[in-house]
Amino acid sequence: MQTVGVIGGGQLARMMQPAAIALGINLAVFAESEGSSAHGAVTKVGDYTDLAQLREFAKDVDVITFDHEHVPTELLRQLEAEGVNVRPGPAALIHAQNKLVMRKKLAELGLPQPNWAEITSPQELEQFIGIHGPKIVVKTPIGGYDGKGVRVVSSAAEVSDWLENLESFGGSLLAEQKVDFLSEAAQLIARRPSGEAKTWPLVQTIQSGGVCSEVIAPYPSLSLSEPAADITHSIANGLGVTGVMAVEMFVLADGSLLVNELAMRPHNSGHFSIEGSNTSQFEQHLRAVLDLPLGDTGMRGGFAVMVNLLGVDDKNSFYEHYPTAMARYPSVSFHLYQKTARLGRKMGHLTVLGSNHEELLETGRKARSLIYGEA
Ligand SMILES: Nc1ncnc2c1ncn2[C@@H]1O[C@H](COP(=O)(O)OP(=O)(O)OP(=O)(O)O)[C@@H](O)[C@H]1O
Ligand SMILES: [Mg+2]
Repeated sequence: MQTVGVIGGGQLARMMQPAAIALGINLAVFAESEGSSAHGAVTKVGDYTDLAQLREFAKDVDVITFDHEHVPTELLRQLEAEGVNVRPGPAALIHAQNKLVMRKKLAELGLPQPNWAEITSPQELEQFIGIHGPKIVVKTPIGGYDGKGVRVVSSAAEVSDWLENLESFGGSLLAEQKVDFLSEAAQLIARRPSGEAKTWPLVQTIQSGGVCSEVIAPYPSLSLSEPAADITHSIANGLGVTGVMAVEMFVLADGSLLVNELAMRPHNSGHFSIEGSNTSQFEQHLRAVLDLPLGDTGMRGGFAVMVNLLGVDDKNSFYEHYPTAMARYPSVSFHLYQKTARLGRKMGHLTVLGSNHEELLETGRKARSLIYGEA
């Protein structure tokens, strides 16, 4: 029987559990602390930046994959050199770990992206603001998530704390033009080592404060599906991605697309697929990293809308209101991740299927308000 080893015990590892059970494979999770979201599948608790511990974990699994992108590339290169199957491999994963490496690679592949520059001094940043300002976006190339590590600024002084600590971000910052987008979108794809790749329909993502708030699948305008899938296949093949990859994109008013960033693992924009697709992103990820044939990615119904549940304070109060929301909205699917509550933290999500995406969004938001105790 095959075993997939996941580094990281967050909600993504958690949601791989039912898929592993259905496929009849073992899941082993290397969590960084006790009581993680994926606690039911944890086989090791420790430090994922320690090569000896990674080696120990790798011994008992057929393939290593990820719940997050924070394992240092050098360690993954070392494991790979020792014969461990690492999927995605470090040569591909680096593009999801480091936004500057990604920008350079996308430029090389000739794919559309915002104007950008590598910044190593306040002068360089002021120069970029002079050309693309008054407002521009500065990002830390590594370590950012959920909008942390992204700032909209109009002067170098607003990121002086980052500019003074360049070493902790790999020596430079990423500056991007502030894109005046119509909406944001994400395209998911799964690719297996033998080369087979399948995309899901393009989805619309709605962020609030830099964090994903809602997802509408498929993206309501179908004219974007082909160009988005083309870009995504080019990246997956160009980088040799294995497993699931999400390509976050900006949709401009003229219908063109720019690549924002990449994630090489199941992604928040794909949670809709648990109920909404014939094959969920979690099952497909397991299939892909084991080099098994990929499942059909068609929608099960018309639309699926996913609504994130974010921590409203530091109390795990969602369970109190859960039954009320369930009673009022019996067609909504509920997912709670068993994480310790913190303001703004991703605590769970809801999915609702149907034919009218606007109505679904309204239903999802109302159910969320009940869980937040607002209604
Ligand atoms: N160049 C840009 N122009 C306009 N808005 C941007 C730009 N870059 C990022 N944003 C906004 O900030 C959000 C977060 O940026 P990004 O995806 O790079 O950060 P992250 O913290 O790595 O994201 P995630 O939440 O996906 O982990 C984007 O979804 C978008 O709403
Ligand atoms: Mg993002």
